[in-house]
Amino acid sequence: MTRRKKIYEGKAKILYEGPEPGTLIQYFKDDATAFNAQKKAVLEGKGVINNRISEYVMTRLNAIGVQNHFIKRLNLREQLIKEVEIVPLEVVCRNVAAGSLATRFGLPEGQQLPRSIIEFYYKNDKLGDPLVTEEHITAFNWAQTQEIDDMLAMTLRVNDFLSGMFGAVGITLVDFKIEFGRVFEGDFSRVILADEISPDSCRLWDTATNEKLDKDRFRRDLGNVIESYTEVAKRLGIMKDMPRVIEGGVG
Ligand code: TMP
Repeated sequence: MTRRKKIYEGKAKILYEGPEPGTLIQYFKDDATAFNAQKKAVLEGKGVINNRISEYVMTRLNAIGVQNHFIKRLNLREQLIKEVEIVPLEVVCRNVAAGSLATRFGLPEGQQLPRSIIEFYYKNDKLGDPLVTEEHITAFNWAQTQEIDDMLAMTLRVNDFLSGMFGAVGITLVDFKIEFGRVFEGDFSRVILADEISPDSCRLWDTATNEKLDKDRFRRDLGNVIESYTEVAKRLGIMKDMPRVIEGGVG
């Protein structure tokens, strides 16, 4: 086996050089971090579950025309993806008040928002991913106006589709974070959905009980993190060919 070239290592994933130009391998780690990596843990099996959940979500989104970086699953922890130039923004879409929005505006967590709200954060760990406006984005050249419009439109489609998909299995999509990347064709580029969509990057509440089934279980020390991620996968019907992730040893 030749040693693969590591392109980038983030908090929850590693990107390796892909088998062909324009491709990368995305490896899902078991590492969990919160509060800009001030809180850290290894949650055994998380990477395996998130690899599968993100594959499932990206595949379903692709089928409704939301173009994204996913090509195919390679193994338990790895997927082949298109290489993109990441837009340095975290795009957050919220349906229900929670997390930093609830704190910022003093809203009770769980309050339905009058409409879905999309926010942009500048992806910069040193600065703690600050909230930014479209003025900042265009002035500092993080994205063009057309790209912002495309990201807003795609985010709304993702929200509509995922709200329905999770709603059908008794899960409320409270909010989520997505990232976009540019793919180049000649002189032109367009933005496609990248990164991951998983319980690490969404708030998912059991609709009947409001029980949290996402990374807030880790952030707030609620316990049963892997069990909750597994419950999400089970409800989506993607546990059938998953190995023993809960009982400790991941195959
Ligand atoms: P927030 O309420 O903490 O701003 O989070 C909004 C959504 O974004 C929530 O679904 C969790 C997700 N998120 C990430 O995926 N990565 C992050 O670094 C943060 C802060 C939030």
